[in-house]
Amino acid sequence: MKVIKIESSFTIYDDISELPNNVVDLMQKAIEARQNAYAPYSKFQVGAAILLDNGEVVIGSNQENAAYPSGMCAERTAIFYASAKYPNARFLKMALTAGSVDHETNSPIPPCGACRQVISEYEIKQESPIEIYFMGVTGKVIKSDSLANLLPLAFDRSFL
Ligand code: THU
Repeated sequence: MKVIKIESSFTIYDDISELPNNVVDLMQKAIEARQNAYAPYSKFQVGAAILLDNGEVVIGSNQENAAYPSGMCAERTAIFYASAKYPNARFLKMALTAGSVDHETNSPIPPCGACRQVISEYEIKQESPIEIYFMGVTGKVIKSDSLANLLPLAFDRSFL
């Protein structure tokens, strides 16, 4: 028997103004997407913006449904559309922002487990890391250099 230790490092920015300029632009697009989210049930709006290696930016927001499980997260809305539209492009950076319309959300909101699994698939497919920046509505921004940091012991194609 042995115990293994898996470490992850994250960069924490005090607020959006500390980010590199191109990431500020990407986060602004995620913020715009968040404001257009369709989230009448949870009132929790999420926006995602992905920068591709062809220079395109693809956005997504959460899309809810009266049949609750039929809804979709912002991250997967964006990543599936990006892969459908630009099947050969690599994903360089993702900016995520989330918050409730009912109360202030000033701490960074990480992507849910299902979205981590999906982002992991494309990171493995493209054989290069995807940088992920996530925040609430205001306040600190956390950067992960790779999805792998957010999903240790991931399930992947090698198990099939
Ligand atoms: N949501 C996302 O869009 N992304 C996540 O990573 C977590 C949750 C959405 C789904 C649902 O519309 C609302 O946030 C509340 O869970």
